[in-house]
Amino acid sequence: MKAKNPFKTGSPAAALWAEIDPAALPRHVAIIMDGNGRWARRRHQPRMAGHRGGVRATREIVESCARIGLPVLTLYAFSLDNWKRPRAEVDFLMRLLRQYVRRELDYMRRNNVRLRVIGRWQELPAGVAADVARAVEETSANTGLQLVVALNYSARAELVDAVQGLLDESRSNGLTRVDEAALAAHLYAGDLPDPDLLIRTSGEMRLSNFLLWQLAYTEIWVTETLWPDFSTRHLLQAILDFQQRERRYGGLSPEAARAERKARALGGALLPR
Ligand code: FPP
Repeated sequence: MKAKNPFKTGSPAAALWAEIDPAALPRHVAIIMDGNGRWARRRHQPRMAGHRGGVRATREIVESCARIGLPVLTLYAFSLDNWKRPRAEVDFLMRLLRQYVRRELDYMRRNNVRLRVIGRWQELPAGVAADVARAVEETSANTGLQLVVALNYSARAELVDAVQGLLDESRSNGLTRVDEAALAAHLYAGDLPDPDLLIRTSGEMRLSNFLLWQLAYTEIWVTETLWPDFSTRHLLQAILDFQQRERRYGGLSPEAARAERKARALGGALLPR
């Protein structure tokens, strides 16, 4: 029997959850949180208001992921290219991030959430890096949801760093051959499964230098909804949609393979020689 519905009886989230197969949840969901600025502009508010709205949405989504027992959630919070934004916005984002990490630490402790960070986060302003390092350390033994925040992240930089790691290893242990597993192990969180599902908000059809290696076979779900408006309902809709996808990893679906066998049996003589 299906476990108790984790959402409020009668809510849209509860109705969606009832349709989801909890045994077939994605192991890893990654999200490109986009549209904070547009959300603010539509309300004639400064961009900062959009980022505050983004934090509210982030909090709700993290809590819902923990509640449904999702193993890994990765959020694209700050890219290596985001330094190109006006100084005031970058400073605001850094303050917001610091505030988020500090305020959520208690929630993470109580709810068995483990915070991890990917990206060149050590290069963030010292105070931000210190708060992040503390939260990562203090939650490192938690065994529930792994919340991976991409900070000062670029997928190309991650691949460069992985190759550098392999070169360093080769100098120390004489490694001479590289395969996919060796490279993957040198990624920032090389122990995690690749994302099964990528969600991007605000309707943009881009990967924006996010997890380029890890997204090789990931199912993509894009919504027009702007990040500050993204809620549990949207998350569950994306998961439901994911559960209806057929993943082939470059192979054939069982149905296509069956049809092919039948066609060969019937019309094999017509095959080109
Ligand atoms: C995209 O909106 C969002 C970001 C640049 C990242 C900031 C994310 C948050 C503030 C969410 C909170 C997350 C944490 C972990 C604190 P945009 O500014 O690119 O929107 P636009 O494309 O409409 O201008």
